[in-house]
Amino acid sequence: MAPEDGILEIEVCLGSSCFARGNSKNLAIINSLIQHRGLNASVRLTGRLCQDQCKQGPNLTIGRDSCHEITAEKLRELLDHPGGPLGGDHGAI
Ligand code: FES
Repeated sequence: MAPEDGILEIEVCLGSSCFARGNSKNLAIINSLIQHRGLNASVRLTGRLCQDQCKQGPNLTIGRDSCHEITAEKLRELLDHPGGPLGGDHGAI
């Protein structure tokens, strides 16, 4: 999942379906993790438009991994665990 330049890219679908079904909350969670853990320099968070995968949404990409049906709980499992991309030994927020 780690990119070659050391910066983790997280791309969140901001299309209306994904956004309404959970990515608005997911975006807030990711932003909170980045801010609280001081990861501004090591994580690049971007948005994207709908890519016609709405039925699998909410969708986002972490590094090169496409992730689907991402609830807040799944998002924390993916990112916020010891040794995880936004986790480490900082404890849960
Ligand atoms: S709104 Fe996210 S894939 Fe369509």
